[in-house]
Amino acid sequence: MNITDPITIALTKGRILKETLPLLAKVGIEPSEDLDASRKLIVPTTLTNVHLVILRGSDVPTYVKHGAADIGIAGKDMLLEFGGEGIYEPLDLGIARCRLMTAGPRLSQTTQAPRRRIRVATKFLNIARAHYAEKGIHADLIKLYGSMELAPLMGLADEIVDIVDTGKTLEENGMVPLELIAEVSSRLIVNKASMRTRHASVRMLVDALEEAVGAQE
Ligand code: PRP
Repeated sequence: MNITDPITIALTKGRILKETLPLLAKVGIEPSEDLDASRKLIVPTTLTNVHLVILRGSDVPTYVKHGAADIGIAGKDMLLEFGGEGIYEPLDLGIARCRLMTAGPRLSQTTQAPRRRIRVATKFLNIARAHYAEKGIHADLIKLYGSMELAPLMGLADEIVDIVDTGKTLEENGMVPLELIAEVSSRLIVNKASMRTRHASVRMLVDALEEAVGAQE
């Protein structure tokens, strides 16, 4: 692939990275060092003009929106929570699939009538606010940064809004999934200015990745 413009791709460590690397490899982009071993945040690749930057998932949309990265790979949950406005989302990569759900303690489901006012622990404040508002439920939101499943167990909240993958974390903590808010997968996002000024290179990358995703399905 002949990428003639300098292109920076923002990625996040963990599951997204693990599932993204094989896709990038298919289009001829491989990090020039082992990302698990390296602490480098800007990593050159086998394509001279293409660099990877490794960020927190919640920061990927911000870097792409401001053009610090031309392209990013971000979970739909992050795009819903931190805003997908001002960026293109041309491709669903179909990887890192999971569900954004509300969940609550198993026992309370049978013993409690639906309430108009509840306490909800989550790191997805915007998504939770919109969800409960739509249902006409007054939700007092409590911001947490991880281990949301603990909050109802400790009496901090009645429900949580969190990512559910296998459902094992909920089950092992006596909780059940309640309502589906959104199906989540990783999306390719593109800075709007980059799409114009580096059009040929960005387009080539998007098309190649689209083909790689199609071949995987
Ligand atoms: C996510 C999520 C749940 C867990 C769900 O956490 O917050 O805790 O995965 O997975 P399961 O349904 O397969 O049990 P993650 O490990 O991504 O860490 P986080 O707490 O930093 O979000």
